Amino acid sequence: PWIAGGARAQGNYPTRTVTVIVPFAAGGPTDTVTRLVAEAMGRDLGQTVVVENVGGAGGTLGAARVAQARPDGHTLLLHHIGMATAPTLYRRLPYDPVNGFETIGLVTEVPMTLVAKKDFPANTLAEAVEVIKREGDRLNYANAGIGAASHLCGLLLMKAVGTAMTTVPFRGTGPAVQEVLSGRIDLMCDQTTNTTEHINAGSMKVFNVTTAERVQSLPNVPTSKEAGLPEFEVSVWHGLYAPKGTPAEIQQRLSKALQAALRDEKLVARFADLGTAPVAQDRATPDAHRKFWQADIAKWKPIIQAAGQFAD
Ligand code: MLT
Repeated sequence: PWIAGGARAQGNYPTRTVTVIVPFAAGGPTDTVTRLVAEAMGRDLGQTVVVENVGGAGGTLGAARVAQARPDGHTLLLHHIGMATAPTLYRRLPYDPVNGFETIGLVTEVPMTLVAKKDFPANTLAEAVEVIKREGDRLNYANAGIGAASHLCGLLLMKAVGTAMTTVPFRGTGPAVQEVLSGRIDLMCDQTTNTTEHINAGSMKVFNVTTAERVQSLPNVPTSKEAGLPEFEVSVWHGLYAPKGTPAEIQQRLSKALQAALRDEKLVARFADLGTAPVAQDRATPDAHRKFWQADIAKWKPIIQAAGQFAD
């Protein structure tokens, strides 16, 4: 019956407000990207696009909500690289992590930064590595749960250093960043969309960006490779999804609205301030998104299996 309902709605889609679920807390990097995209997509669709935060369990609770939603294009998911890592990280998920969704298009790829509280006793990545080796689990490392980008980045860091820290999970790095600012959390790896302004204000330390190239909005921050840990590299991609069974015409309409949003001057300028850029227009399509996502599941599988950290 849901599919029939969706089919009926196609002609004048969207017929009412569209909701985009962000599977992390408000104020964080996924939320920031989604709010900019939602506002601009709403202009193209001629309907309000609202954002709802369903955080918890590394993004899997929000994904589950959308997998179970009516496939009529009025409930969408904006999720990140966690869609490629959760199928390997979780032994059991309350939804089909691959076949439970239709892809609409890729959105952006965001560099990450290793940041620390202001009085952390290191000024370079090499010095931070020494502190991590010395202090180990006496250090608090924040993440947004298993499946979060901050979790994946932490895995890569701890594997490269060979020392584990105490992990403190949050519903998103929006709240976690506040704890780095207050000094209760020592270290965190988070997307530039959430850290750039704090770094440039001098309210937290930064040791590196996790991409092959430096980031324009953080020109003085070295890459992992420049800072001596070339294997500490990850880029956080975001994509827009609809529940399985959403009609192809609606997927195409949404992809067109996404492309329009990614050309929006205000969005492009704000993305640049936050260290990121929209994907090329031909990547904001259902096919390009699905291919990239499938390849990324295969890419991370052996890395996660080697790290050996799974969730039930
Ligand atoms: C968020 O929006 O809170 C993040 O994307 C969390 C993360 O994946 O690290």
